Amino acid sequence: MNPSEVERIGEELPLLEGIRTTRAIRRLESDPVPRELIRKVCEAGTFAPSGGNRQPWIFVAVTDPERRAFVAERYARSFRAYIEPALEAGKAPDFPEASRRNMLAALYLAEHLHEVPVLLFVAGWKRRGEHQLQALFPAIQNVLLACRAVGLGASLTTMHLADGREIDAFLGLSEKTPSCALLPIGWPKGRYGRPPRRPVDECLHWERVSEA
Ligand SMILES: Cc1cc2nc3c(=O)[nH]c(=O)nc-3n(C[C@H](O)[C@H](O)[C@H](O)COP(=O)(O)O)c2cc1C
Repeated sequence: MNPSEVERIGEELPLLEGIRTTRAIRRLESDPVPRELIRKVCEAGTFAPSGGNRQPWIFVAVTDPERRAFVAERYARSFRAYIEPALEAGKAPDFPEASRRNMLAALYLAEHLHEVPVLLFVAGWKRRGEHQLQALFPAIQNVLLACRAVGLGASLTTMHLADGREIDAFLGLSEKTPSCALLPIGWPKGRYGRPPRRPVDECLHWERVSEA
């Protein structure tokens, strides 16, 4: 991909349409993703708001197959333990279909994480001993939106935190700069679409929340 292609890609998608069609894309091709595109989506991340504009974010993109396998092994182990009870519950005939699909997609990601070309970790330095997650999650959402715009599939995950210390050390992150999320990124196998969401009128209140 040449520099002008990188510059142009994703710039045409209307903002609100992009927001409405950004969802967890967990079935990904294993083909490599150009580094310049990862740089572009991380740059979108850097436009997030942060307290005092301190910009505490640190992005670590893991692409080496052996290093991805190290992360994937730990993620899959934790995810299987986490999802086990839900998989059991999902066997019930009245289990909501949308939840079952979501669960199976998350399981698919866990079992194929080693094949995902880019494991993008988001970390950030602490302030007065506290995580600055209020800044990191807006940055993460910007990265997810930028992935949508350039046609990459991505999702927000936190399961690696079960092995957070070990993985952070593996990434060269200290206790002062812990990771808070892992975004597996690659070319999507499926298509983007509008995800299921509660209607806005169920969530929006004027002046105060009235009693039910
Ligand atoms: C804080 C947070 C942690 C999450 N952790 C995981 C995770 O570890 N693994 C995973 O597959 N999805 C994870 N998700 C993604 C949600 O499951 C996903 O956003 C939800 O299923 C909605 O998907 P949709 O946008 O495709 O409808 C996480 C989301 C959030 C906000």
